[in-house]
Amino acid sequence: MKSPRHIAIIMDGNGRWAKERGLPRLKGHERGAESVRAITEECVALGVEFLTLYAFSTENWKRPEEEVAGLWVLLEHFLEMELPTMMKNGVRLRAIGRIYELPESTQAKLAQTIAATAKNPATTLILALNYSSRTELADAARALATEAAAGTLDPATITPDTLSARLYTAEYPDPELMIRTSGELRLSNFLLWQLSYAEFYITPKLWPDFGKAELREAVASFHARERRFGGL
Ligand code: IPE
Ligand code: IPE
Ligand code: MG
Repeated sequence: MKSPRHIAIIMDGNGRWAKERGLPRLKGHERGAESVRAITEECVALGVEFLTLYAFSTENWKRPEEEVAGLWVLLEHFLEMELPTMMKNGVRLRAIGRIYELPESTQAKLAQTIAATAKNPATTLILALNYSSRTELADAARALATEAAAGTLDPATITPDTLSARLYTAEYPDPELMIRTSGELRLSNFLLWQLSYAEFYITPKLWPDFGKAELREAVASFHARERRFGGL
């Protein structure tokens, strides 16, 4: 069966995974990075064209400085370590969110990895970093208003497509499948617009315990759904 073109994942539960083992939260994030590797590889194997991973929300800045700083160090390390695998597997890296607010060194490493993988033909891995749907929609609204004020956009012609084209995700199709690990039944400000017709798959598994077999299970559940899009 054909895989979904685009899967979006709220990678949740790293902290609980660590807590269960009496480890510091950052250990959970480290193990979470291993799940990122496994899931990306499996998406390549399944022919999934786009994989969007919620890695850091605009609300996550509220966490202790030590955890936040540790996450950026971990991301930089991950990008460096994974580049050869991404090249070998044909993974193209992209990022969405207010990237310009990240630490300089993280921005540099991201830009470097995005450039190095730009021509890779298999799965596009999109990291949502300093992302929230409401800031994305506010940024899009500001872009539309600016164009209207400049006289380059007639407000009467604005359609859903006009707005979609100003989102960070303008180049990508909407996800058909949204997975959230660790059982929470909420979107936490993730892709509110883009997930309008996505199928949701919530699993109690914590993100560090979510591997290739779990992804295949989620995709199988997706195939068993009847998608109606408002019709009969
Ligand atoms: C998800 O795991 C990773 C990030 C939000 C960066 P959490 O860190 O939210 O893990 P829990 O929810 O505390 O278990
Ligand atoms: C959502 O997880 C954000 C990411 C996975 C990056 P959170 O752990 O931040 O969400 P809440 O606080 O449970 O809503
Ligand atoms: Mg969480």
